[in-house]
Amino acid sequence: MKKVTSVLLAGALLGGALAGCSSDGSKEGSGGKEPKIGVAIYKFDDTFMTGVRNSIKENAKGIASVDIVDSLNSQPTQNDKVDLFISKKSDALLINPVDRTAAGVIIDKAKAADTPVVFLNREPLPEDMKKWDKVYYVGAKAEESGTMSGELIVDYWKAHPEADKNGDGVLQYVMLMGEPGHQDAELRTKYSVEAIVNAGIKVEKVAEDSGMWDRVKGQEKMAAFLGSHGDKIEAVLANNDDMALGAIEALKAAGYFKGDKVMPVVGVDATAPALEALKDGTMLGTVLNDAVNQGKASVKLASLLANGETPTKDNAGFDITDNQYIWISYKKITKDNMDDAK
Ligand code: GAL
Ligand code: CA
Repeated sequence: MKKVTSVLLAGALLGGALAGCSSDGSKEGSGGKEPKIGVAIYKFDDTFMTGVRNSIKENAKGIASVDIVDSLNSQPTQNDKVDLFISKKSDALLINPVDRTAAGVIIDKAKAADTPVVFLNREPLPEDMKKWDKVYYVGAKAEESGTMSGELIVDYWKAHPEADKNGDGVLQYVMLMGEPGHQDAELRTKYSVEAIVNAGIKVEKVAEDSGMWDRVKGQEKMAAFLGSHGDKIEAVLANNDDMALGAIEALKAAGYFKGDKVMPVVGVDATAPALEALKDGTMLGTVLNDAVNQGKASVKLASLLANGETPTKDNAGFDITDNQYIWISYKKITKDNMDDAK
């Protein structure tokens, strides 16, 4: 038995040494001193979160060993992953919840094990954030992105009188919403329309539906909107770029973006394919959702907490609001300032 154990142990040590840079891609040769951070993403198959995930990996180099897992868009699966990280003695957790209202349960588990936790992209409810002082959130103010995407439509409408296709002085729009219950879906929808109304433009919502952040679903919903409302639609607002790109596909299939058949379409995120669409003139504008800095801030915060340090602006490199939040700014992006998003 003893022999078996030592063989296994030697194998494990050798495996570790050979792997050098193991599955998490960031174990460095610092004598195993780097804290271990368990990272759970709501699902890997999400364009924007893939950008954040890549930034976490990149920015973990030299400061932490990250083990990044896919929660497969299932909260029970994510809870199991959290249990596993805790049993493997992770020094901190970095969680992108599947369901933001499940953060409370995760906080209870983390607190019981004295393992600090940083949430990102899906904001826990304020009452859950108050459960423990070693709980942080890194994200962006959804209101801000909503306002900016509405302003993109305002600028277009003012510069293009012909955008009022039926000449009734009212902007007839369709809305492609993200996942119900997600703060970014609720607030981007609300604030984008509010920005248009605040600019003195009358609006009429022709249709609204959720495309679940997804390109194919965005395309299907837009095809359905066109099927029932056709030329009545004068603008498309999407809560993210993937849905906006799906809508552009549906519009292309309906003969748009040829000759003088145009449609202003706005999204949020400024993903690489969205920048391509800005370049070729099919997408009017988007809002940079800064994946690089969200990944960087969250892994830095988690590594500080894992080391038992109290995060400050000086050691984290980002402003910390109300002792628990790091807010990363959005930025309006059009063809003219595309390079700012690269
Ligand atoms: C939003 C982003 C969406 C999607 C979502 C996932 O911030 O704009 O594209 O990635 O997060 O929670
Ligand atoms: Ca009109």
